[in-house]
Amino acid sequence: MKILFGKNAQISYDTAILFLTDIKKLPNKAKMLDDSVKGHISHTLSNDNGFKAKYGQSIIVPLPKSAAYKRVLIMGIGDVKEITDQKLRQLGGKLQVALKTASAEKALYLYEEDKVLAVEKFNLIAEGLLRRNYVFDRYKTKKKEDEAKADIHSVTLDAEELSAVKKGFKEVEALIGGVDFTRDLVSMPPNDLYPESFAKIVEKELKPLGVKVTIIDEKKLLKMGAGAIMAVGQGSARQPRMVVLEYNGKGKVSKTPDLAIVGKGITFDTGGYNIKTSNMHWMQFDMGGAGIVSGVMKSLALAKSKKHVVAVLALAENMVSSNAYRPSDIIKSLSGQTIEVLNTDAEGRLAMCDAMTYVQKEYKSKKLVDIATLTGACMVALGHEFGGVFTPDDAFWAKIDVASNDTADKAWRMPMTEAWDKEVKGSAADLKNLGDGAFAGASTAAAFLKNFVEKDVSWAHFDVAGVVWSFKDGDLYAKGATGYGVDLLYTLINS
Ligand code: BES
Ligand code: MN
Ligand code: ZN
Repeated sequence: MKILFGKNAQISYDTAILFLTDIKKLPNKAKMLDDSVKGHISHTLSNDNGFKAKYGQSIIVPLPKSAAYKRVLIMGIGDVKEITDQKLRQLGGKLQVALKTASAEKALYLYEEDKVLAVEKFNLIAEGLLRRNYVFDRYKTKKKEDEAKADIHSVTLDAEELSAVKKGFKEVEALIGGVDFTRDLVSMPPNDLYPESFAKIVEKELKPLGVKVTIIDEKKLLKMGAGAIMAVGQGSARQPRMVVLEYNGKGKVSKTPDLAIVGKGITFDTGGYNIKTSNMHWMQFDMGGAGIVSGVMKSLALAKSKKHVVAVLALAENMVSSNAYRPSDIIKSLSGQTIEVLNTDAEGRLAMCDAMTYVQKEYKSKKLVDIATLTGACMVALGHEFGGVFTPDDAFWAKIDVASNDTADKAWRMPMTEAWDKEVKGSAADLKNLGDGAFAGASTAAAFLKNFVEKDVSWAHFDVAGVVWSFKDGDLYAKGATGYGVDLLYTLINS
């Protein structure tokens, strides 16, 4: 779907879009359209058909042959005083669904110059439209009947003052470019997306945009002593990779990026010998953290951001085989700390800790974010609505909170305390990859990772187990990969 600005006389639009706050008062452009069809629209609205112009309600009114459009799609916005930015994004998503239902191909949004809604706010609607428009259908050889409807070709904004809104839209485009890249990665099946192919896809996508991409293969990982990520991946024929992504918009070489990010990229998590007995198929999205990080780097590059960010993808596949790691193995991480593997299904923290050590050793960033589909426990706590954020640093959390509230990606701060630090101390080794009891699993995972953060580094850990994938359609995504987190991190970096 394209978002276009300014009515074009060469294009014939099949659908007019109107936003209404009240069905009894048609604003200017609506009134003109209504007059041109002899009151057909106002007549339809006054017949009680349930449409009251409440927020998110929509109605499709077919127009007579003589009219300028085949139909008019009317969206309710309800009480404008109650409209928030997030509600406008969601309205855009609802608009996408309504346009698709109407089989609209070329739609023209008749913006009312009465300024009930500032014209720049259209960018939030555009963001919602584009987010909801994403589909992952590249593996389909034929489309089902309901999907055979033509794609929405374009939505055009018809307004007088376009320069500011056009400028703002560049940001939306950069953001969506990243979000959709993340969704492509998260949606891909694990037979096609494994560490080596993941690394190549990211390289192909990001290198031409000016991101420096370095792929560290299993031989180099072994040699450097990344024993934790290597243990996780040793049971798979598809061997681990670390991928280092560096975007520097500062115009000068530097070893101190504004932020370092690490993403969990378990391309499939069977659990290993502690094999998963339910919902194993969900674990195709266990590379969601690395997917988000890849999307953020793409958005930064597309937006030609002035920031300097380095990211590491921790890519491995957790499988069973005669060569797989075992519960009770003791492994040595890149940091030098030894770890008792008490559960092969707590693999994410093992892959992550080596990538965290690597990025802090090679770059001197004072800020570190890691993002991972780390624990089922976080999904139990926060469901699909919030990502969990763990950080000992109040000021860092405050920044994250602000960024989150500026975006569609909701985040909730989770607790950290010394009691959980003790739970991950090992008996035969320095650390163990499991807490003591069955409880606070998201927090003990965070406590484990804390051991790999250098003293002077400000760190936040995001557990996104519940939010990278949705099991049902939402306002901003269809069932599947949500694209969560790209906007939050992108906004945080630019703040
Ligand atoms: N990738 C899973 C966590 C997960 C579960 C993500 C459900 C998304 C949805 C992780 O590797 C895992 O298996 N964690 C275990 C940890 C446990 C063994 C301490 C879990 O959550 O059960
Ligand atoms: Mn696991
Ligand atoms: Zn996992």
